[in-house]
Amino acid sequence: MRPTLGADMNETSRIVEYGVEIASDSMITPPDVTTVELEPGHPGLGDQDYIERRRELFALCRQHRLERRGPPLVQYTDQETHIWRQVWPTLDALHVAYASRIYLEAKRALGLSGVEIPQVQHLSARLQQESGMHLVPAEGALPYRTFYGEIAERGFPVTQFIRHASHPEFTPEPDMIHDCLGHVPPLMHRDYAALLTRIGQAAMAATRGEQVLALKRLSWFSIEFGLIQEQGDVKVFGAGILSSTSEIPFALSDDVERRRWVTDEVIATDYDPSRMQAVLYVIPSFAFLRFEVEQLVQRLGLDLPPRGAASGAAAQSPNIA
Ligand SMILES: [Fe+2]
Repeated sequence: MRPTLGADMNETSRIVEYGVEIASDSMITPPDVTTVELEPGHPGLGDQDYIERRRELFALCRQHRLERRGPPLVQYTDQETHIWRQVWPTLDALHVAYASRIYLEAKRALGLSGVEIPQVQHLSARLQQESGMHLVPAEGALPYRTFYGEIAERGFPVTQFIRHASHPEFTPEPDMIHDCLGHVPPLMHRDYAALLTRIGQAAMAATRGEQVLALKRLSWFSIEFGLIQEQGDVKVFGAGILSSTSEIPFALSDDVERRRWVTDEVIATDYDPSRMQAVLYVIPSFAFLRFEVEQLVQRLGLDLPPRGAASGAAAQSPNIA
């Protein structure tokens, strides 16, 4: 029998995330981070110029987010542009070889360039035309429910800072390369945008930490770190993999255990976001994922509007086969 995640949960109960026990209601009302916090081991620690730049962009993007002003235009430095130009060719070649069709088609259509860092404001306007999604400036990593709360209103939070120059291949936190080259392209698809919006609506309808945790794990193993079956091949679907030159080959190597997607198992599986991912799930198809999200919403007992009712764009004919 399936577990009944939607009922009989104690709001003050403890849940385990990242191997640590936490109060479940911290998933419902997450803390608001008001300053730049670089975690231990971050390559930018000790670099005062980098920290200053991060503080500047943190304040600017946070203000624009809270005041709902849309992404600010940012003048990038030569060093920041250099990092983008360094990472682009390797990542682009890996995308051509290993990314899902859903991602590749959208990346081409979006017209991203390996020469200049894109302005998030311009990408947002393009997405708005294509799928009705827009981009929201994010000062840094936002807690899951804050993040998906924006998405529920068809706004995808995107950072506007870039990783530290000493490690162009690596970032311990989401940055512009993760967001613009991982998350943003597939938002061009109406169906993909509709799926994300649906998860956002579910996260906002949740009243218990256990429900949010289930949605967060589903998002992690699909939107962030999912693989997908395409014409007999396993392709890379998740933004966390797509934005990392080391994670793409690793995800498809023999060092990773690739499991068949079973939603009950996915939502019961803890993970460590600070390491390379040794366990990944393979989604049989995009349509399957959409179906499984609807099933999970029902199982969690979440009261959502009918699918497609939230926006005109989502109600149009499907654009992912
Ligand atoms: Fe992400």
